Amino acid sequence: MKKRFLSSILCAAMVAASIAGCGSAAPAPAASEAPAATIEEAEAPKAEAPATEDAGSEKLVVGFAQIGQESGWRDAETMSIQTYAAEHTDTVELKFADAQQKQENQIKAIKSFIEQDVDVIGLAPVVETGWDQVFAEAQDAGIPIILLDRTADVDESLYATFIGSDFIEEGKEAAKQMAELIGGKGKIVELEGTVGASAATDRKTGFDEEIAANYPDIEIVASQTGDFTRAQGKEVMESFLKSNPDIVGVYAHNDDMALGAIEAIKEAGLKPGEDIVTVSVDGVKGIFEAMVAGEANCTVECNPLLGPLFFETAAKLKNGESVEKWVKSVDGVFTSDIAADVIDSRAY
Ligand code: AHR
Repeated sequence: MKKRFLSSILCAAMVAASIAGCGSAAPAPAASEAPAATIEEAEAPKAEAPATEDAGSEKLVVGFAQIGQESGWRDAETMSIQTYAAEHTDTVELKFADAQQKQENQIKAIKSFIEQDVDVIGLAPVVETGWDQVFAEAQDAGIPIILLDRTADVDESLYATFIGSDFIEEGKEAAKQMAELIGGKGKIVELEGTVGASAATDRKTGFDEEIAANYPDIEIVASQTGDFTRAQGKEVMESFLKSNPDIVGVYAHNDDMALGAIEAIKEAGLKPGEDIVTVSVDGVKGIFEAMVAGEANCTVECNPLLGPLFFETAAKLKNGESVEKWVKSVDGVFTSDIAADVIDSRAY
């Protein structure tokens, strides 16, 4: 019997996103430490019979098309998904594809999951646009799509739910933290994430709008993509420093780029965290280490440990239950003055 695509209800009881004030902390749920077990490749033939509607005892078969391995945050998200699957092999089967940051590979993986008649497809879209056709193919096959951590610019009817953070709010919060750190004035630079990714577009929108609206004496003198990687963050920061010797702050759309920028600042003979302050997004261990060392100033958390919620939501969809259209993550903000106190409790 064909699975039915479930039209999810609009967020009637949305989980509140609480970006707390500077110095507050809302730790993410702890990641399991169990080792990852066997994960089938996207292309592998389906081992089991297609799921049926009375398949209460059958495994939940999920295909997940991951972006790649561009950052520590991404690795933590992958670990969270794979660890959950490895710990629930009696009830869950995961088909995992690493798209190496290419949309064409993600589309190929989704088509393969449709071929294999999985119960639910999960996707972290590398960019926002270009998904309509393949999402429609999944819908025609009766397979619901869960967007994990990044959004896609498609009609809401084409996916079941989005699980993730409010990137615009993250950008706004980062702007407030930056303004506080530099006393409301000065020239700053911005390291953007992957061009076309919702995480980059929205973090830029939130930050730039907040600065323009409330901080007339802060000037963003340069803004360029570093593709969410440490190497490109460093490279772009080197060129920023050459053309803008008088900057007082750097806002990076993720911690990895901030860590690259810190290397560039040091190599330029300046003190990161003092001569040039940093505000970034994610909350990975590396930025906490940099804050403890006095080389970074603030990170706005974005929880990557979405594996358990992802599989619970997929199970609901398979069982015909309704889910909220946007399940928002609850994140915190961490500054260097509390970094040493919380670093050991960080789960990623
Ligand atoms: O989509 C989330 C973003 O993707 C993270 O902030 C970044 O580190 C990752 O690459």
